[in-house]
Amino acid sequence: MSKIKVYRIRKLSADFEMPGDKSMSHRSMMMAGLADGITRVTGFLPSEDCLSTLHAMQALGVEIDSISPTEYLVHGRNGKFRAPGEPLDCGNSGTTMRLMAGLLSGQPFSTKLFGDASLSRRPMKRIKAPLEAMGATIHCEGADDRPPIEVRGGPLKAIDYTTPVPSAQLKSAILLAGLQAKGSTRVTEKTLSRDHTERMLRHFHANLVQEGTSVTVHGGTTLHAQDFKVPGDFSSAAFWLVAASSMPGAHLKIRNVGLNPTRTGLLTILLRMGAQLRESVNENSTESCGTLEIIEGTRLKGTEIGGAEIPNVIDEIPIIAVAAALAQGKTVIKDAAELRVKESDRLAAIATNFRAFGVPIEETPDGLIIEGGAPLHAARVPSYGDHRIAMASAILGLFAEGASIVDDTDCIMTSYPTFEKHLAEVLDGDTASKFAVKWPFRKKAVRPAVEKAEKP
Ligand code: S3P
Repeated sequence: MSKIKVYRIRKLSADFEMPGDKSMSHRSMMMAGLADGITRVTGFLPSEDCLSTLHAMQALGVEIDSISPTEYLVHGRNGKFRAPGEPLDCGNSGTTMRLMAGLLSGQPFSTKLFGDASLSRRPMKRIKAPLEAMGATIHCEGADDRPPIEVRGGPLKAIDYTTPVPSAQLKSAILLAGLQAKGSTRVTEKTLSRDHTERMLRHFHANLVQEGTSVTVHGGTTLHAQDFKVPGDFSSAAFWLVAASSMPGAHLKIRNVGLNPTRTGLLTILLRMGAQLRESVNENSTESCGTLEIIEGTRLKGTEIGGAEIPNVIDEIPIIAVAAALAQGKTVIKDAAELRVKESDRLAAIATNFRAFGVPIEETPDGLIIEGGAPLHAARVPSYGDHRIAMASAILGLFAEGASIVDDTDCIMTSYPTFEKHLAEVLDGDTASKFAVKWPFRKKAVRPAVEKAEKP
């Protein structure tokens, strides 16, 4: 099992390009696989999660030519997949399992989907109810509607559905089933979740109507192959945006990053906390994309986060908690109970890890209360097998006196395979701290004395 070692830095100056967006990479493979021709996907994120989706599409008979790890030619099957010979391994990816369930609901065969220990703990009831109302059968083998799941697909009828939780995975599952259903399927959310599926369905020429937080898809439309360029992942950029915003004097530029407004709530929060940032949008077709710059890091101030803001920052709460721990004053995060059913119970994981670094933090049923500005000391913390907990803990370690360790960091490969490379650049960039730090774990292990050769 790998681990990450970090130490306190006092200088940060970086110019990064982020790897492809995870949400869009999943969808690019699914929609290109459904479409009626060949789609060239560029900027794909070759992370474990997105490769789970790519492999699942191959198992369904979609031919995918690999030009490079980030570029593929996807031969769409015009809406008709082949029954896979084996259960589909979704790895750690909730997006793969939930969206594939929607996609498979309209196919005339049964498919079993399973995942790792973390995915096996995640709730599937939310997709089971609407997909069964449309005519599919979703059998959950785990207790309380948890994976593995078996999707028995067939002819579907349209539904008009209001989701119990704002969830792009749930909305997307229904839309992908709705695309194959008879009639018009409408999904309404109380608060709008990320809208990549809607944008991408339109990109592939689906018939879609958006009205406020409702979206209607007309079933029976064929998707037409359409090249797609995946921009950089805003949620990966978030780690550096917080690190640079919170470090006085720091400077950061992130290029070619996705700036879809249903994803960038972190920018609003950072601005409210006093960050000096600049956003320049330089491409605005299916998805906006551009450059983000932290002009100069500073001491942020605490804030309150909740309500409609949460779905927009659903993946950023661990790193927002880092900003809060470093800010002056109290930050209250509420209405975020959904974090308890992510890759780990993120509220519990954040509270435990942050406390180990000396952060005064209180866990509430649906959020966190963080007293910012306390001096931090080095710690050794687990990742709970959760990529965003691992990365947020490593970033917190950049502000803690001494040398810290995050254990079990393989999970980072699910979303941000070049995180460690970027982290090493940041650590190397601050040479003064690098040579000042005492590395307890670098001490050479005392070797047992070499035994003398036995005399013959
Ligand atoms: C995702 C949606 C979010 C997010 C996940 C990716 C997606 O989940 O947490 O990392 O690609 O649709 P929910 O929509 O279930 O909140």
